[in-house]
Amino acid sequence: MNEKQDPLVANDSDPVVLLGPGPSTVSPRVLQAMARPLLGYLDADFRKVLDEECQLLRNSYGTANELTFALSGTGMAGMECVLSNLLEPGERLLVGVNGFFGDRICDVAARHGIVVYRVDAPWGEAVDPAVLDAKARESHPHAIAVVHAETSTGCLQPLAPFSQIAKNHNSLFITDCVTSIGGVPIEADLQHIDAAYAGSQKCLGAPPGLSPVTFSKKAVERVRARKQPVTSWYHDISLLEKYYISSPQSYHHTPSNSLHYALLEALRILHHTETAPAVFERHSRNHRALVAGVEALGLKMFVREGLRTPMLNAIAVPDGVDEAKIRARLRNHNKIEIGAGLGKLKGRIIRIGLMGHASRPANVVAVLGALASALTEQNYKCSGGAAVDAAIKAGNY
Ligand SMILES: Cc1ncc(COP(=O)(O)O)c(C=O)c1O
Repeated sequence: MNEKQDPLVANDSDPVVLLGPGPSTVSPRVLQAMARPLLGYLDADFRKVLDEECQLLRNSYGTANELTFALSGTGMAGMECVLSNLLEPGERLLVGVNGFFGDRICDVAARHGIVVYRVDAPWGEAVDPAVLDAKARESHPHAIAVVHAETSTGCLQPLAPFSQIAKNHNSLFITDCVTSIGGVPIEADLQHIDAAYAGSQKCLGAPPGLSPVTFSKKAVERVRARKQPVTSWYHDISLLEKYYISSPQSYHHTPSNSLHYALLEALRILHHTETAPAVFERHSRNHRALVAGVEALGLKMFVREGLRTPMLNAIAVPDGVDEAKIRARLRNHNKIEIGAGLGKLKGRIIRIGLMGHASRPANVVAVLGALASALTEQNYKCSGGAAVDAAIKAGNY
């Protein structure tokens, strides 16, 4: 095999720019961090890495929760961990579903024997708090769960009404922060979130493989009061706490040093090199620029203004355009990855992620230009120049 054909090295000199729903292109500093020598899982220096990482994750969530750490596994591991700890088989969970990942919460919970109630909103809309409240009166849930940033649609769910409903019904409030963390403020303590899970590979700017989770005191007390053991040994937070938080530590499993080095470096960039407010502003500005460019192409955003996530931009595919061909052209000619629609939105939308290190003006301009060429190739009339111009104006680049 020559080097050009070898998938491990083919991408080295001219890497694909990851502008899909995640993973996202990470900073070279983060890639370099992964090349550092391994340490034993109980080594004092590795403990320092984990301690700093836990603190920066608390900052990312906006919480003082002691039990905050990066779980081994991706966002789905975090989802499974939170659900399987907070609820026992036979207990009731109410889920606000407005996309693919809300649906996943229902599926995962049901597999752990949790009784699932759901209220559904049309994909692309937010969940209506009044409808969820009515369902809570009927179902008396032990916990209520919503997805903060629904990656399948690009809808940002306002959290405050749901935390209030959870409080009124004495339910725990669970939030999926996989896409929102590091891109918009979460303020877990102010929002009275009892447990949340996230992903490392989106706006935090690290590779996939770790899932930052956080549990409030109330959530931890609920777990301690369980009658039955947690249905997943690997995700039992009472065991995990003894490794990630307690001193002295005890062995639970062998975490990936390299992934933790990368996540810590990404968190240092976020909180120290750039600072969180500047990162949020960057995501918001690049989102505004992309939307202006998309609209100058004559395309429509899938989610209405005011409900859009800045980091995930879902764009409706116009009639007569084959979205799979668009994505293939961007990947093969421009070395840009963008995402397809998920579930019932397959074929109907494309998703452009501007997440973490990848949320930058050069990427906005490049993807708009590439999109215009791909559309033109399919006889859709548009001007790439006008799109880039609109983006530059809206982003004040
Ligand atoms: C909102 C949301 N929840 C959960 C997940 C699952 O995360 P992962 O694919 O990292 O397991 C994703 C992944 O994209 C997501 O966007």
